[in-house]
Amino acid sequence: MTTPPVIQPLPVHVAIIMDGNGRWAKERHQPRLFGHRAGVESVRVIVEAAREIGIRHLTLYAFSTENWQRPGLEVKGLMALLKTFLLAELETMKKNGIRLDCFGQKERLPDEVRAVLERVIAETANAPGMRLNLALSYGSRAEMLRAVREVSRRCAAGELAPEAIDEELFSNQLYSAGQPDPDLLIRTSGEQRLSNFLLWQLSYAELYFTETRWPDFRRAQFFEALQVFANRQRRFGKTGEQV
Ligand code: FPP
Repeated sequence: MTTPPVIQPLPVHVAIIMDGNGRWAKERHQPRLFGHRAGVESVRVIVEAAREIGIRHLTLYAFSTENWQRPGLEVKGLMALLKTFLLAELETMKKNGIRLDCFGQKERLPDEVRAVLERVIAETANAPGMRLNLALSYGSRAEMLRAVREVSRRCAAGELAPEAIDEELFSNQLYSAGQPDPDLLIRTSGEQRLSNFLLWQLSYAELYFTETRWPDFRRAQFFEALQVFANRQRRFGKTGEQV
């Protein structure tokens, strides 16, 4: 494996919408699960590349709340791949200091998947290295509503004054509490939309879209996205001279 290139500045937090497994499989006259299986290999490669180059937070959109509507066999296959991935990667994550978290409705996952997920989260909870967040049964609107409900509950109980609600307090009710917002969003496979992913957290993110299908998105393609990010000027509403 080659050493990663020097890229400056690096994003602290990269979020990825991993799209195109199905089309990749179809182009090869294979069933969709064939694409998802190849997609898992990309997950492995990108987690390793991100860690090596020094990304501190990586969030992967692995399964949306809408994905439950896919054919039962595909959902079952994806859940099985997820479980196998977690079991296979646990030791590597521990060795490499990766801390796993889940963004989403863990309670909707099948029991045996949830059990493995909880185990990996618990066993990596004190890991000092990269934070890896898997968005599973995740939807941004549902996440925000959950936060609103909790904040409202605290107001109604007299624990919180409505005036005390600020961006930080709200952010701390989201699954991403305690982690910085993504600086860079990558979406593969040509679609240019956010698909209910991290709508609050992506407010200032740079967006990077590529035609490459997720199973073909590997080290070189990831480093290319990081290089494009490094070449962009982020102004946060200020003028070019002020930053
Ligand atoms: C999008 O491709 C991909 C998904 C809905 C699932 C992503 C899952 C993986 C990469 C594998 C499992 C993940 C982990 C973390 C082990 P699509 O099916 O929407 O592709 P299409 O738009 O071309 O049909």
